[in-house]
Amino acid sequence: MSAPTELSMADVLPLHGSQDLLRFITCGSVDDGKSTLIGRLLWDSQQLLEDQVQALRDDSKKHGTQGKEIDFALLVDGLAAEREQGITIDVAYRFFATARRKFIVADTPGHEQYTRNMVTGASTADVAIVLVDASVGLLTQTRRHAFLVSLMGIRHVVLAINKMDQMGFSEGTFRRIEAAFTAFAGALGFESITAMPISALKGDNITQPSPQTPWYQGPTLMAYLESVPVKKAVSERLVFPVQWVNRPYALFRGFSGTVAEGSVKVGDEVRVTASGETALVSDIVTMDGSWAQASAGDAVTLCLDRPIGVSRGDVLALSRLPLEMSDQFEATVVWMHADEGLIGRQYDLKTSTQWTPVSITEIKHRVAVDTLAHEACRSLQLNDIAVCKLATTRPVVFDAYERSKTLGSFILVDRESQSTVAAGMMGHGLRRAQNVHRQALTVARHDRERLNAHKGRVVWFTGLSGSGKSTLANALEVALHAQGVRTYTLDGDNVRQGLNRDLGFTPADRVENIRRIAEVARLMMDAGLVVLTAFISPYKRERAMARDLIGAENLVEVYVNTPLAVCEQRDVKGLYQKAREGKIPNMTGVNSPYEAPESADVTLDTSTISVAESVKLLSKRLMHC
Ligand code: ADX
Repeated sequence: MSAPTELSMADVLPLHGSQDLLRFITCGSVDDGKSTLIGRLLWDSQQLLEDQVQALRDDSKKHGTQGKEIDFALLVDGLAAEREQGITIDVAYRFFATARRKFIVADTPGHEQYTRNMVTGASTADVAIVLVDASVGLLTQTRRHAFLVSLMGIRHVVLAINKMDQMGFSEGTFRRIEAAFTAFAGALGFESITAMPISALKGDNITQPSPQTPWYQGPTLMAYLESVPVKKAVSERLVFPVQWVNRPYALFRGFSGTVAEGSVKVGDEVRVTASGETALVSDIVTMDGSWAQASAGDAVTLCLDRPIGVSRGDVLALSRLPLEMSDQFEATVVWMHADEGLIGRQYDLKTSTQWTPVSITEIKHRVAVDTLAHEACRSLQLNDIAVCKLATTRPVVFDAYERSKTLGSFILVDRESQSTVAAGMMGHGLRRAQNVHRQALTVARHDRERLNAHKGRVVWFTGLSGSGKSTLANALEVALHAQGVRTYTLDGDNVRQGLNRDLGFTPADRVENIRRIAEVARLMMDAGLVVLTAFISPYKRERAMARDLIGAENLVEVYVNTPLAVCEQRDVKGLYQKAREGKIPNMTGVNSPYEAPESADVTLDTSTISVAESVKLLSKRLMHC
């Protein structure tokens, strides 16, 4: 049988901005009874169609875990495959309504590694229901969820202490869990925390006050959800992130997107935040014809009275209420990937419709979710929540998350795998970004290149230790020097004794090593030199970063592809032997990865080609670039 039908987002969208709509999220660990609770709410709000009910009865007999009783979890567990795995994996938005309110609930799975889904679900919610299994009590996961919920700006929390039936509806159990949660969450700044003793399975205190809990005087869950006040933020200013430039024919040009905050009228002067260019709104085009005004939530196309430069990713504001830009921020980052997050590595940052390369420049501290204590840390692991400094390559339009969920939230995407590795909330921009400006210099790179009578270039050698990078770089430099080329060689072993003396061989240190080298090589190239770099540079991502920074047209990547066995046999520095004896914990090729280039400009195996031949080949390649 198919999964229960739900209303689609299209059915829900007309409700956007409606006053009597409450969005909430349920958070819990696996087996806390989250799906059962949501199923129960759907059931009790009478939104189930009769045929779904019959199907559910049949299915409960086949798959349910609740004997003859209807298994409410089956209402929300969604896809069959997930059901078989016993976990739900994505955020599912479900819609239901009572006479008093309409609801959208974000159902997020409780499995430890799915923090991502929770963050997604929480970003639009007004209320969070934090579920606790009364027979288990608070878990680290419960604390993490409460902390995330607070970070995401949710101000009202229901602590739903579930499975009270299994605990004989003991008031003592309830009060103990309530007290522990309140003590923990006190520091999280919630406006209200409402603890409720419930049984999602049996229906206690869901829509009807339970006769089993005479000691509980608070509202039922449904009564609470129907009456909790939600403040809808009203914004004076306009935030309109441009999704695409709509140009169906030559005479029409409009900018399409969804008004994220505030409203805009025909005749308003708007400003492109990045360029500062302004124009008047001449028309607001929608699916239903032209409008005089559009407000938050409306998907529209804005036409302007004059042709100004606007592209995807630009953010339009009212000229009288301009938005801020910065390229350095403090932000709270929630790391959501098994690959560790490294200082200095480049990621792509997406905020509103803007994309830019970004790197973490500092991890100020990580928050221990059980105690909320600040801990020092050097890289980010799965589920870490940390306050970091970030630097973007280009300035972005931003605001603090507490003032703007649109301009203050972002995700980080791995540039190699394209997976989302983190979500974040902006804090303040760092003033440094506004105070440091690029100084225009009169003598430019091409002037120096003219004086040198050759171009500035970077020859980037990569390969295992002992592969022959330094030997080749050295021989190439001798040859170039003899031809009157101004050169400089940056060599791993040398640079690590000076500029990079503070760095070792952990992944984080290697990333930083290569970041600095890429920056220095770029400066030297700008000075007009042919720079030769000889570093293992084991990671694809950092080599890609160097290529971007230096410019692919300026760089020759040379992969010294000497087999590991040969490097090990040479073992000039005796490091391989030490590594094999377990004395070096992260030796490249032995117990630390080397990610081979897939499309190097030149690939050389020094066990099969002589140094002289290699130099000839490389000199030739250099002449062509
Ligand atoms: S990189 O990985 O960060 O690019 P780099 O090229 O600067 O490394 O330094 C590599 C040199 O450091 C090697 O040639 C070797 O002499 C030395 N070395 C010391 N420890 C290690 C290690 N654990 N792994 C690789 N090289 C090491």
